[in-house]
Amino acid sequence: MLSEVLAALRPSDGGLYVDATFGAGGYTTALLQTADCGVVAFDRDVEAISAAQPKSKLFKPRLTLVESSFGNMEKELHARDIASVDGIVFDLGVSSMQIDDEERGFSFQKDGPLDMRMEGANSKRPSAADIVNEFDEDILANIFFLLGEEKKSRAVAKEICRARIEGPITTTLQLASIVEKALGPSARKYKIHPATRSFMALRIFVNSELEELIAGLRAAERLLKPGGRLVVVSFHSLEDRIVKKFMAARSKDQTTRSRHLPVSQESQDILTFTPVRGVSKKPSEDEIAHNARARSSILRVVERNDAPAQKELTGEDLGLSSALINLLSEKGGHDALV
Ligand SMILES: C[S@@+](CC[C@H](N)C(=O)[O-])C[C@H]1O[C@@H](n2cnc3c(N)ncnc32)[C@H](O)[C@@H]1O
Repeated sequence: MLSEVLAALRPSDGGLYVDATFGAGGYTTALLQTADCGVVAFDRDVEAISAAQPKSKLFKPRLTLVESSFGNMEKELHARDIASVDGIVFDLGVSSMQIDDEERGFSFQKDGPLDMRMEGANSKRPSAADIVNEFDEDILANIFFLLGEEKKSRAVAKEICRARIEGPITTTLQLASIVEKALGPSARKYKIHPATRSFMALRIFVNSELEELIAGLRAAERLLKPGGRLVVVSFHSLEDRIVKKFMAARSKDQTTRSRHLPVSQESQDILTFTPVRGVSKKPSEDEIAHNARARSSILRVVERNDAPAQKELTGEDLGLSSALINLLSEKGGHDALV
C-alpha cells in the first residue's frame, strides 16, 4: 500500500508527519525521501526502534523515533513541544519481522515461547501464555469468539482448560495443536490454518489492539491541522469496522455512514473531517503478488477540516458490541472504550 499511502498523505516540504507504526520503516523512509519533511515515528516494539537507529542517523534531524504505543501519541508529541501535525498514518497489526521471528511467539507455524507481546518479552502486560494458562474458560471462549470470530470458540477454550491440567501451555506449537484438536479433522479442509483465528484473537487481546486503535484515532482528531490527512491501513474486519465507523461519524461520508446512529445525533454532529475520494482502498494485484499478506489490507483516508475536535466517540459509537466492551473492560488498563 506504499504508493497509495503516499498519494493519500501528499507529503510536502516543511511538513511534519506521524508514522504511528514504524515497523521496518518503509512508510517513514518513503515520506522522508519524497519531501523535505519531518517524521515522528512510533513503535511500541523495542526491537523495531533499535533496528531503526541507523535510519535515524541517516535522516537526522528530520526523523524522531519514539518507543511508545500510538495510544500515547498526544502525550509524547506534547512532551516534544509538538501541538499539531500535517498528516498521520497507521499501518495496523504486526510486522513481518515480528511474525517471522519465532522467539516473539506470534506464529503458529514455528515453535517458540507463547508470548505475542509487541513490546517484547520485557513488557509488563500479561503474555499469551499467561492468558491461556490463567483465564477462566468462559473468558477464553469470549476472546476467541469476539476477537477471532472462531465459531467453535467454546470447544477451543474447553480443550485449553483440559490440556493445562497436565501442565502449563508454554509454546506456540503446543497451543496450535490444542486448537487443531479442538476443531477436529474438518478444520483442516479450509485454506487457512485451523489456529489462525484463535492466534489472531489472542494477539489482539494481549496487545489491547482495539483500545489502542480507538485512542489513536481520537488523538489524530486533536492533532491534525486543517487539511491534514488521517490514513489508516487495516488488516481485519474488526479494526476496519472501527476505522470506518470513526471516519463516517466524523465526516458523514454517506457511503460508509452507519445506519444505526440515531438521527438526532447525526444532526447535532459537528464534522471534523471531510471524505477524500479517488484514493484506492485495496492494494494492487502486483503488490498482492509480492506480498500475500497485503491481500486483506484496506486503506481509508479522511482530511481534517477546521472545526474544533469533538467529544470523543465511545466503543459503542464505534460499533463494538456490549459483550466485546465488557470483555475488554474486564481486563482494564485502558480508558479508550468509554
Ligand atoms: C504492519 S507493521 C508496520 C510496517 C511499516 N508500515 C513498514 O513500512 O515497515 C506494524 C508495526 O506497528 C507496531 N504497532 C502495532 N500496534 C502499535 C501501537 N499501538 N503503538 C505503536 N506501535 C504499534 C508493531 O510493533 C509493528 O512494528
